[in-house]
Amino acid sequence: MYRLLVKNIGLLQTPTGSFSHKGEQQGQNLKLKDASIYAEDGIIKEITSEGKLPEGAVETMKAAANGDKTCKVIDAGGSLVTPGLVEGHTHMVFGGYRQHEIPMKLKGASYLDILRAGGGILDTVRHTREASEDELFEKTKGFLQEMGSLGVTTVEAKSGYGLDAENEYKMLRVIKRLNAECPQDVVSTFLGPHAVPQEFKEVEPGEQETLEQHNRAADRFMDVVINEMLPYVKEHDLADYADVFTEDSVFNYEQSRRYLEKAKELGFGLKIHADEIAAIGGSKLAGELGAASAEHLISINQEGLESMAAGGVTAMCLPATSFYLNAGFAPARKMIEMGIPVACSTDFNPGSSPTLNLQFVINLAYLKYRLFPEEVLTAVTINPACAMGMGEKVGTLEAGKQADICIWDVPDFEMLCYRFCSNQVRTVIKKGRVL
Ligand code: NIG
Ligand code: FE
Repeated sequence: MYRLLVKNIGLLQTPTGSFSHKGEQQGQNLKLKDASIYAEDGIIKEITSEGKLPEGAVETMKAAANGDKTCKVIDAGGSLVTPGLVEGHTHMVFGGYRQHEIPMKLKGASYLDILRAGGGILDTVRHTREASEDELFEKTKGFLQEMGSLGVTTVEAKSGYGLDAENEYKMLRVIKRLNAECPQDVVSTFLGPHAVPQEFKEVEPGEQETLEQHNRAADRFMDVVINEMLPYVKEHDLADYADVFTEDSVFNYEQSRRYLEKAKELGFGLKIHADEIAAIGGSKLAGELGAASAEHLISINQEGLESMAAGGVTAMCLPATSFYLNAGFAPARKMIEMGIPVACSTDFNPGSSPTLNLQFVINLAYLKYRLFPEEVLTAVTINPACAMGMGEKVGTLEAGKQADICIWDVPDFEMLCYRFCSNQVRTVIKKGRVL
């Protein structure tokens, strides 16, 4: 048995429960002073406060002092401890990078202009198709290590840069392998309909496409995704969730509905890239189908907000993408007021958000979304955990959950929200082991 004791915690701050927190619950955190956490084999057994020690503590301290390598004692030095951070939306498996796009943007091209010209996601598709499974695995493993060093202990990862059966499955196998071989839990999402691949288009790259031409190509590709890829992914257990990029010039409301209905029928959890640039019904659809989450939501309208609230959909808000695209920020404050659970994530990807730093997202959620520190903590722990089916295991510090723990270099979470661009984490623990 492997025992862990984290003692001398100045402030232990955590949401509680295994459910998505909405409305006032979003801002309710348990705060314990002079706390300790005791875990066995990666599972929390007891949390104490006010200087009291957990039952197994004395024995664990003695064994550790005698050099017993199965016992570990960490002195938190009076600082802040929270649950390990949960990263609910990433596109972390990809070939190449897209630094050459920024000068195009400085000259005035928009995100969708670049995609329509055969760049953007389609550029990453070319590089991802060229990369071997091992190359992608090694590259992504490095990303997970960096995320770990920044406090992230659970991650969602999407496919969507293969856009054909062979390369989509390759990406999903990489995600499965990351989950098996890396310390973090990695939850897999199939995002086959992330863009219409060039081979389905009726025009050459860069050539102007009419709406009819685009829709015919998108429909043909969607047929392949629905009839071939989704059933294969399910049969081979390559993903738990299905996601689609519902956007102008990508997939429309009807195409997205067709896909998500089939995914639901097959037993996938549902996610949707919705209202990132234009509100074309993505968030409304998420509510109608009871999706686990709708993600982006920069341009969400009242109808979408009401549909999400009624459908119990988590809003996965991505403020680093707003920052990087020079776009507006999702109305996260209003979402909380309307009873929509809010989660926040980096959206790590090579185009619209090339950052692995969820701590920066914490700053943006605080300052740009105007969420209070307690609400922010919920948004980067239990709410994303629930949106990826991990709420019973991670996202809070409570007996019975995994010992996924961040020990910070700051005394309180307010300080963490306030300081930015430094890595403020001191020690990161996943399933009771120091990363
Ligand atoms: O969530 N918006 C669609 N997908 C990604 C971006 C992917 C890319 O640009 O490579 C996102 O921002
Ligand atoms: Fe995304």
